[in-house]
Amino acid sequence: MARILILFAHPALEKSRVHKALLQQMPHVRGVTFNDLYEQYPDLDIDIEREQQLLLRHDTIVFQHPFYWYSSPAIIKQWMDLVLEHGWAYGGEGRMLHGKRLLNVISTGGSAEAYSPQGRNRYPILELLRPFELTARLCGMDYLPPFVIHSTHRISNEELQREAHRYRAALNLLAGHDADTGSLPLQGYLNDLIID
Ligand SMILES: Cc1cc2nc3c(=O)[nH]c(=O)nc-3n(C[C@H](O)[C@H](O)[C@H](O)COP(=O)(O)O)c2cc1C
Repeated sequence: MARILILFAHPALEKSRVHKALLQQMPHVRGVTFNDLYEQYPDLDIDIEREQQLLLRHDTIVFQHPFYWYSSPAIIKQWMDLVLEHGWAYGGEGRMLHGKRLLNVISTGGSAEAYSPQGRNRYPILELLRPFELTARLCGMDYLPPFVIHSTHRISNEELQREAHRYRAALNLLAGHDADTGSLPLQGYLNDLIID
């Protein structure tokens, strides 16, 4: 079984609707370690050794968070700056993450149409997530198509539940030994590859 590490960042989880719904799926997925970064490090004082040891024990690394200012909440960036050390994650002898997989799981207030060339945000989500894709590549990781939930202020409870079940199915797929993720097209979203 492949082990999944979820690096979760939501600075106001008590006000969340979308990520709360996603987190309710966790008990139904085997082999997942849930690492709530804001709970663990309220002062952003990240324990590098602890985080690196966690990374070594898992095969798939997930960044799960709301989309903030076309990017992630600050602690994700802090985590990347500190934990992905030169000579460990990349550069020189830095090969500790080689062969692992990286997945972004995000929610956006903006609609899918808003994240298109004609839309108000101009660029597709895949373009805005390029820094994560390139980070994965630099560290020798396979970058997976992201799992995205749009229109968070308008999504119905039914649709949210459907996406939450897709998330659970996606994690179970990734936990399977024989998940052939090397062939996943980096065009659409992981959501669309899950058959309900
Ligand atoms: C500080 C902040 C920045 C945000 N920036 C964006 C943004 O750049 N693009 C976007 O589509 N939504 C943005 N949003 C909306 C959030 O992504 C949305 O509220 C969140 O995904 C909802 O998930 P939740 O119910 O789990 O909180 C932002 C919200 C906040 C509070």
